[in-house]
Amino acid sequence: MQSLQQQATTRSGVKQEDAFAIEKVNLYQRLGRDPFVKLSTNFYNRVYEDEQQWFRSIFANFPKEEAIQNQYEFFIQRMGGPPWYSQRKGHPALIGRHAPFAITEQAAVRWLEHMQAAIDSTPEIDPDSRKLILNFLKHTAYFLVAGKEIMNRRNGAV
Ligand code: HEM
Repeated sequence: MQSLQQQATTRSGVKQEDAFAIEKVNLYQRLGRDPFVKLSTNFYNRVYEDEQQWFRSIFANFPKEEAIQNQYEFFIQRMGGPPWYSQRKGHPALIGRHAPFAITEQAAVRWLEHMQAAIDSTPEIDPDSRKLILNFLKHTAYFLVAGKEIMNRRNGAV
């Protein structure tokens, strides 16, 4: 049985060392706060207006402004900045926090499409930083899918 990290690598095509290369450079020091705010704003603007209702509806119960803040504070914390996310909300525990949602492979693909488009429309983030961020996000998206599948099996769901 492959570990969740191994499954994330197999399914995303992103090696673990590339996914966690964000830990070797401090992207918060490089970019500062604003590009992360812009990235999450661009991302959620797309998500909340997604023409695909099945995807848009996953987020329907959450105020957009809060979702934006949750995401950019998490990104900043994970990429070398201040721990604003954990100060406000505690441990990120991403698998647990995504447990209520349908984190399928199809959802990961759509989420990543929006993230790719959002990062492409955030010129404040330079190409090298884009690559580092996207590798981490791709790997993590499939890590969440694999985590969800394990929880579904444990709960006896198909
Ligand atoms: C929150 C869906 C992938 C990080 C959420 C929320 C939804 C969601 C519906 C609740 C909105 C909120 O209250 O903030 C999804 C889907 C994904 C996905 C469908 C597809 C795979 C990811 C990835 C990351 C991530 C790859 C990180 C790399 C977060 C964080 C929160 C969040 C930090 C805030 C959690 C909280 O504070 O409660 N996500 N997500 N998500 N997501 Fe995701």
